[in-house]
Amino acid sequence: MKKDEIIKEILELKKKRNAVIVAHNYQVDEVQEVADVVGDSLALSKYCADVKKDVIVFCGVHFMAESAKILSPNKVVLLPEIDAGCPMADMVTKEALIEEKKKFPNATVVCYINSSAEVKSECDVCCTSSNAVDIVRAINNKDILFVPDQNLGSYVSKKVPEKNIILWKGYCITHHRVKIDELIRARELRPDAEVLVHPECQPDIVEAADFIGSTKQIIEYATNSSNKEFIIGTEMGVLFKLKKDNPDKNFYLLSPGLVCPNMKKTSLMSVYRSLNEMNYEINLDETIRLKAKKALDNMLKLS
Ligand code: 13P
Ligand code: SF4
Repeated sequence: MKKDEIIKEILELKKKRNAVIVAHNYQVDEVQEVADVVGDSLALSKYCADVKKDVIVFCGVHFMAESAKILSPNKVVLLPEIDAGCPMADMVTKEALIEEKKKFPNATVVCYINSSAEVKSECDVCCTSSNAVDIVRAINNKDILFVPDQNLGSYVSKKVPEKNIILWKGYCITHHRVKIDELIRARELRPDAEVLVHPECQPDIVEAADFIGSTKQIIEYATNSSNKEFIIGTEMGVLFKLKKDNPDKNFYLLSPGLVCPNMKKTSLMSVYRSLNEMNYEINLDETIRLKAKKALDNMLKLS
């Protein structure tokens, strides 16, 4: 099928299924184009919790579709590519977390939304990259066990020095590989550009940046800035919206390694197949779902 035909089929199927298509900011351009909503993890979680549709097609990675299911148990949640996982989310398991909690019985457990529903079910409160600092600051406990992203956790611990943050050793394979030499070189090449990075980058990168934020916050910052040039330190998918919304500005990717292979698995064809075959449906054990929901609800209350 040609691109126009696939899009036509998708739109017809969407109506027939009473479905909505949501896409993360890292999805390929044509998936972002066909989506009803594009956003960061927090915005998409909130949207899915309130949307009045029977089916949610979640173009993103596994933990994101799980979060949608946790918040919307009566909707059918579909992940178009079942192998689209998040390696960082897989760096913590429920069993390993239960063991770690025994070492810090008085700590409040905060989990980054990039974690499985099973891991969330063992946590007190979730956070995303856009609200992690505020969530941790609002917790009425000095000791925080933060899983699984050591880089986001380390960023939070600098912003909230009054807390004792115990870090899990997980990281995002895509953001973690950005090197400080790349940032220094990028600044030399574009001295007028502002450097905007995601807090999943390593501490030396975050330290050297002009702005740190979630994908949505990076897009908003660049859009509202009077500056004309930006070096972008997050996954390349954000360039689509940045360029579309800011045709008069220039954006340069901080590192050619900023590509998440899992986010790139979903194509227009996978969205079409997903709606046509109602694949791949996300289902959760109800006890796990309810416990994980508490952690997500606590986040939504605090953010
Ligand atoms: P955002 O919440 O900033 O969109 O990030 C999600 C993610 O997976 C970052 O790698
Ligand atoms: Fe996971 Fe990193 Fe991909 Fe985000 S960019 S989904 S954290 S691997």
